[in-house]
Amino acid sequence: MTRGRFISIEGGEGAGKSTQIALLAERLKAHGLSVDLTREPGGTEGAEAIRQLLLRGGDDRWGPAAEAMLFAAARSDHVEKRIRPAVDAGIWVVSDRFLDSSRAYQGASLGLSDAVIMDLHRIGSGGYLPDRTIILDLPLEASRQRTQARDGDATDRIGGRNDAFHLRVRDAFHHIASAEPARVRLVDARGTPEEVSDRILAEIADLLP
Ligand code: TYD
Repeated sequence: MTRGRFISIEGGEGAGKSTQIALLAERLKAHGLSVDLTREPGGTEGAEAIRQLLLRGGDDRWGPAAEAMLFAAARSDHVEKRIRPAVDAGIWVVSDRFLDSSRAYQGASLGLSDAVIMDLHRIGSGGYLPDRTIILDLPLEASRQRTQARDGDATDRIGGRNDAFHLRVRDAFHHIASAEPARVRLVDARGTPEEVSDRILAEIADLLP
């Protein structure tokens, strides 16, 4: 049986990930592929339980190391029980966020080193990586406008952090994309959903059967 593929979609808040993931799934299905859409933190029963611990409560509920380990634990369950078996069975798995979110949010932005995040990933998930990672890139001002229109003032424990934090996140994503050009592609998230979807498809075209 042909192996499927694992695609992760990353980006800051309000970059349009949900819309783009839905469009990508439609387009992959139109190619005759079986698609499984999932998300992080979450995607399995255990990881969804950890999600509640991570996204609820005050900003000081967890310190940086505990937060990073909880994300890694959720990811470990997700890879073992859902992502790896599906990809091995020929399915294209598209995840709303994956490891690079931990590198950007817990690593660069909370001051843990990238090496620590990668160590946790090696311990938790055997270093399992996506075949391709798309980072939806949007200037902070534009992403603030989109999240305000969508969520009002309701935000989660991590999304609610200040602008300086979100600027570090964006910067970290840029760094990851330039350091790993074979796996990671930065995509301009401005424009209509169809324009952005075309850009994403161009960045995964070489993986299609
Ligand atoms: P979610 O409601 O899925 O928000 P979004 O629409 O922005 O993806 O919440 C996920 C939040 O968790 C988001 O603020 C990013 C954060 N996050 C991390 O900090 N580290 C991680 O490894 C992951 C997967 C998510």
